[in-house]
Amino acid sequence: MSSSLSTQHIISMEDLTAEDIALVLDTAESFKEVNERRIKKLPTLRGRTIINLFLEPSTRTRTSFEIAAKRLSADAVNMTASASATVKGESLRDTAQTLSAMACDLIVVRHKYAGAPEVLAECMDTHVINGGDGMHEHPTQALLDLFTMKQSLGHLEGLTVGIVGDICHSRVAGSLVPALRKVGARPIIIAPPTLLPARPDVLGAEVSTSLDDVLPELDVAYMLRIQMERAEGMPFPSVREYARLFGMNSARLAAMKPSALVMHPGPMNRGVEISSAVADSDRAIVLDQVNAGVAVRMAAMYLLLGGESGGAAA
Ligand code: NCD
Repeated sequence: MSSSLSTQHIISMEDLTAEDIALVLDTAESFKEVNERRIKKLPTLRGRTIINLFLEPSTRTRTSFEIAAKRLSADAVNMTASASATVKGESLRDTAQTLSAMACDLIVVRHKYAGAPEVLAECMDTHVINGGDGMHEHPTQALLDLFTMKQSLGHLEGLTVGIVGDICHSRVAGSLVPALRKVGARPIIIAPPTLLPARPDVLGAEVSTSLDDVLPELDVAYMLRIQMERAEGMPFPSVREYARLFGMNSARLAAMKPSALVMHPGPMNRGVEISSAVADSDRAIVLDQVNAGVAVRMAAMYLLLGGESGGAAA
């Protein structure tokens, strides 16, 4: 296997080949071990500067990138919407050129508009990681999800993964569906018709409008948050009805294979897409996903910046 990625940026799952994905997952495995040590720090990216430009609210993703950069000894600087000149009307292009002039090596960007990471990649001479752009993609989330599935279920090829809920507004689904296809898994998107994209076939997943119909086939039920902030009006009659038809609860968990697991990218709306009993059960691996996030982001940063020879976590 090659020891470097075929891409300069991680903006979309389209940037990564199946080999790239395998390399990120393998590298993350050695970083996961570092994260279990008492001293969780490697000198690998000493002297490199990483800017986390988060122009949309985020706690877990921003924190995860920041911890990942610090564990590799990079100088990590956080910029949030209120702290950046965008609130003073500066264009994204000008922000990019300003940051470029400060000679940063890697920029992680979260933005409310799809395509913002591409704009940065075009006008900056640095590596770019997409930390979530509008309703488009969130590739490191998909990578950490693959990592978690592989750790928990032993393999990825042949897994049937139901992605349930707000598909049409979800950048998580936008990256997870192609990611699953690249590793030979079978994604099924499951939602009421009002939460499916206009052309669900474009995503390349099977489609179902009944969670109960497909439940027994699933190895993983991946529950999405209803993105009320992106929806125009209420996309279903009531939250109660949504929870009744599409929420993961103890009865539905019992109808799944005994080995099947429940995942969620967070933040969870308990009582809506997932009941508290399921969220707190040992079949829900949400915290394993958060844990994997740090290792996978360390791997992504290390591989993009070329690291140093001698193995990732030596
Ligand atoms: C997701 C996001 O912001 O896209 N969360 C995350 O990154 N962990 C999903 C969500 O907000 O529902």
